[in-house]
Parts: sequence; C-alpha cells; structure tokens
Amino acid sequence: MASITVTVDGVTYSDDVEPRLLLVHYLRERLGKIGTPVGCDTSNCGACTVHMNGVSVKSCSVLAVQADGAQITTIEGLANGEWHPLQKAFHTEHALQCGYCTPGMIMAAADLLRANPNPTDEQIREGLEGNLCRCTGYENIVRAVRRAAEAGAAS
Ligand code: FES
Ligand code: FES
Repeated sequence: MASITVTVDGVTYSDDVEPRLLLVHYLRERLGKIGTPVGCDTSNCGACTVHMNGVSVKSCSVLAVQADGAQITTIEGLANGEWHPLQKAFHTEHALQCGYCTPGMIMAAADLLRANPNPTDEQIREGLEGNLCRCTGYENIVRAVRRAAEAGAAS
C-alpha cells in the first residue's frame, strides 16, 4: 500500500491505496465521486476526464499514487454555488442525450476554454477530439461550448 494526500473538489483526503489503483476508481469507489463515469477504462472515450492541477486528464490513465499532492477537480466540484457556464450552456443547447459523456465533455471543454477563451468551432472540435459521444450529439456540444465561451466561461 502507498499513502497519498490529495485534494478533491476542495476537500483534502489522506488514504492508503494500492499502487495499481486508478485515479478514477479511487474517486468513485473511495470518495463516492460517481459523477465521474468510466466509459472504457482504456483511455479512449474521455468520459472519466477530471482536472489535475488545473489541466484535464483522463482519470482512467492516471494512478491514484500519481495524484499524490495534487489538486483534483471533478464535475461535482465545477459548480460554484450555481452551475458553471458550461453546465448551463449544455442544458440550454440540449448538448446531451444519455449524458454518459457529459461530465468528461464539460471538464475537457473547461480546460479548452481556459487555454483558449474564444475558440473557433474547428478549435472546439479539435479540443474535444479525445472525448467520444456515443449518442453523436457533437453539433449541439460544439454549440454549447461556443455559447459558454460567449458567456465568459473562461473567466
Ligand atoms: S474511461 Fe477513461 S477514457 Fe474512457
Ligand atoms: S450524450 Fe450519450 S454518450 Fe454523449
């Protein structure tokens, strides 16, 4: 076992974990952060995307021990008293169907807008290319990210 201390959505946890434990399983099973889903477990779909020290990562491709000392934000920590502009925009633009990809899409989009507050549609598509939507809702997802950018989501 390895000892880790990690801050998740503003709360600091200290735990003993197996060195092979994936961050996504730590978040879901140990901390109950089930807003972060597992879509593939093979780093293909992006459903498990969270922010580690402010940068989006696929939490199924990060070991919990690699998050030792890190600040993690999940979809559950993105709202700050009220919905994040991306969450509002996804709702307004009907940018989800089953919703399985949505947490990862929003976390990846938040990182995209942090790096580029006013992306073109092409840049949004490129920025989200690591995130798959099996319901093929890409048009509305791009529209939602554009709406969130116009609403100042990056600020
Ligand atoms: S569950 Fe992590 S990329 Fe699919
Ligand atoms: S809304 Fe169903 S996978 Fe994207």
